[in-house]
Amino acid sequence: IKRIGLLTSGGDAPGMNAAIRAVVLAAHHYHIDVIGFVHGYNGLVIDEYIAQSKRLNLTDVNSIIHQGGTILKSARCPLMMEKSGLHQASDTLVEQSIDALIVIGGDGSFTGLLALQALWQGQVIGVPGTIDNDLANTDFTIGFSTAVNTGIEAIDKIRDTADAFERVFIVELMGRHSGHITFNVGIACAAEQVLSFENFSQDDEEAKLQQLAEEIQQAQQSRHGSYIIVMAENLWSGGATKLVEQLKALAGIECTACVLGHIQRGGSPVAKDRILATKMGVCAVQAIVGGETGIMIAEQQGVMSHVPLEAAITQGKHVSSQLVDAQQSILALTAQTQC
Ligand code: F6P
Repeated sequence: IKRIGLLTSGGDAPGMNAAIRAVVLAAHHYHIDVIGFVHGYNGLVIDEYIAQSKRLNLTDVNSIIHQGGTILKSARCPLMMEKSGLHQASDTLVEQSIDALIVIGGDGSFTGLLALQALWQGQVIGVPGTIDNDLANTDFTIGFSTAVNTGIEAIDKIRDTADAFERVFIVELMGRHSGHITFNVGIACAAEQVLSFENFSQDDEEAKLQQLAEEIQQAQQSRHGSYIIVMAENLWSGGATKLVEQLKALAGIECTACVLGHIQRGGSPVAKDRILATKMGVCAVQAIVGGETGIMIAEQQGVMSHVPLEAAITQGKHVSSQLVDAQQSILALTAQTQC
C-alpha cells in the first residue's frame, strides 16, 4: 500500500479533524502517503475539486485536533447516485494511483462507498462521523458527544430565561430521523417532556397534542417555573413552530419555539470525540495495512472493531430502551412529586 485517499462527506461533525489527523499520522508511521480530496465525493467527480486534491503532510494536521468542521471541507454529492458519477470517482482514484479510500461520514456517505466498491479495485474503509449517532454496530459516532454537550449548554441557558419568565419552551434538536441527541439532551437537561421517534408515533399527533396541552396545564396549576419540551427534528409536521401555534389554538397555551439547528454541528470537539476519532483514524489505517476492505471502523463496548459496511447502514440504531424507560420513570416521578 503506497497511497491512501481520504475525504469527509455529508454533514460535518466535530472530531472529523481529529480523525483526519490520526489517519495522516498513522499512515506516516507505515510510510504511506495520504491524498486529501476536498468537498466530499465532489473531490472525486468534479474537475474543479479534483484539481484541489493534495498530499497531506504532517504540518497540514498540526493544531487541528481541537477544531470543529473539517479541513477537507464536506458536501453531499448527488452525482454519486448516478452511474456516471461513480465511474468518474473510480477513474479519479485509478488516475491518482490510490490503493485504498477512507471516507469519514454517515450512512449516505457509506452507501456511496459501497457503490464505489463494486466498480473500483481498491480497499474501502468507512469511519463513522455524524452527530446523529444513527449508524448500527458502533457504540458512538464521531461528533455525537459534542453535539449532545452543545445541546445541553444551549438548553441550560434557555432554562435560565424560561425560569425567569415561567415560560414554556419547545426546543427542536437535530438528529435527522433518529432521537439519540434528543433523548440524551432531554435527560441531561431534565426536560419536562421528550418528544422523539421512540416514544411517539406521527400518526398520533392529534391525541398527543391534546395530552401535551393537558400535561402543561396541570403542571402550570400545580407549580411555578419553566416547562421545557425537547423535540426531535422531522418528528412533528411543521416542527416546533407549528406545535407552538397548535398549543395556542387548542388551549391558549403560550410557548416559545427555539430551533437549535446547525449550532449543534459546530464547535470544538469534546474529549470523548477527540479520543474516539483518534482511535478510529489509527484503526482505519491499520485495517488497510491488514488488507481489510468493505468495512466500517466501530467501537463496541469500548473495543475497536470492524463491521461490514452494509451492516452499518442497513440495520439502523435505536435509542436504548433503558434510556427511554429512564426518561419515562423520571417524568412520572416528577409529575407525582411536583418537582
Ligand atoms: O446528518 C447530520 C445533520 O446535521 C442532521 O442532523 C440534519 O438533519 C442534517 O444533517 C442537516 O443537513 P443540512 O446541513 O444539509 O441541512
